[in-house]
Amino acid sequence: MRGMSDDHTHVQEFFGSRAADWDRRFPDDGPAYTAAVAELGLREGDRVLDAGCGTGRALPPLRTAVGPAGLVVGADLTPAMLQAAVRAGRDRDGRLLLTDVAALPLRSRVLDAVFAAGLVAHLPDPAGNLRELARVVRPSGVLALFHPIGRAALAARQGRQLTPDDLRAERNLRPLLAGSGWDMTAYVDEDARFLALATRAG
Ligand SMILES: C[S@@+](CC[C@H](N)C(=O)[O-])C[C@H]1O[C@@H](n2cnc3c(N)ncnc32)[C@H](O)[C@@H]1O
Repeated sequence: MRGMSDDHTHVQEFFGSRAADWDRRFPDDGPAYTAAVAELGLREGDRVLDAGCGTGRALPPLRTAVGPAGLVVGADLTPAMLQAAVRAGRDRDGRLLLTDVAALPLRSRVLDAVFAAGLVAHLPDPAGNLRELARVVRPSGVLALFHPIGRAALAARQGRQLTPDDLRAERNLRPLLAGSGWDMTAYVDEDARFLALATRAG
C-alpha cells in the first residue's frame, strides 16, 4: 500500500502536469458548476469550502451564493492548480489554502457546506477523508459531490469499464457517506453530470 506522501506526490504530479491547460480542456463547464452550486442551497453570509478546488472553477458561483459577507475557502493539494486559480483571478472570490483535505486547518463545525468536484475518486482513504469534511461542517450542513460528467460517460472517455465496486455507485456511496457522518439526500448520475447531496448527520 502506498503511504500518504506517495499519494500526495502522485496527485501533485498528475494534476500538476494538467494545471496550465485545465480550464482550456473544459471551457463549457461553467453553467454546470453554477447549477450544482445552486443545489447546496447556500444563503447570504454562509461559509463554504470547495474541497479539491483545483483552478477554482466553482469559486465564482460560490461567492455569488454567499455574497460579500460569506466565507469561501478553496483547498487543494497541488500548488500548480492553485497557481492557475490565481492567474485566473479566482483568488478574488475565495481564500486559497494549499492543504490536504484529509487534515484541514479549520475548526470543527465552522462551515455550512462543502462542495467537492472531481475529488472523491482521488482520495486515498475515502471514509476517513469524508469524515474530515464532516468534522468541519455544522450539523445539518450540506455536502455536494459533483462532476460535470456522469460516471458512465467518464469511464468511456477514459477507456475503462465501470465496475460494481466503483466508489460513486449509489449502492457504494450511500453506506460510505453514512459511515462518515453524512446522510445522502439526492443522487443523480446522468451523462451530463454526477451529483450526490448529503447532509451532516446530527
Ligand atoms: C479532477 S480535479 C478537480 C478540480 C476542480 N474541483 C474542478 O472541478 O475543476 C481534482 C483536484 O483535487 C485535488 N486533490 C486530490 N486529492 C486531494 C487531497 N487529498 N486534498 C486536496 N486536494 C486534493 C487535485 O489536486 C485536483 O486539483
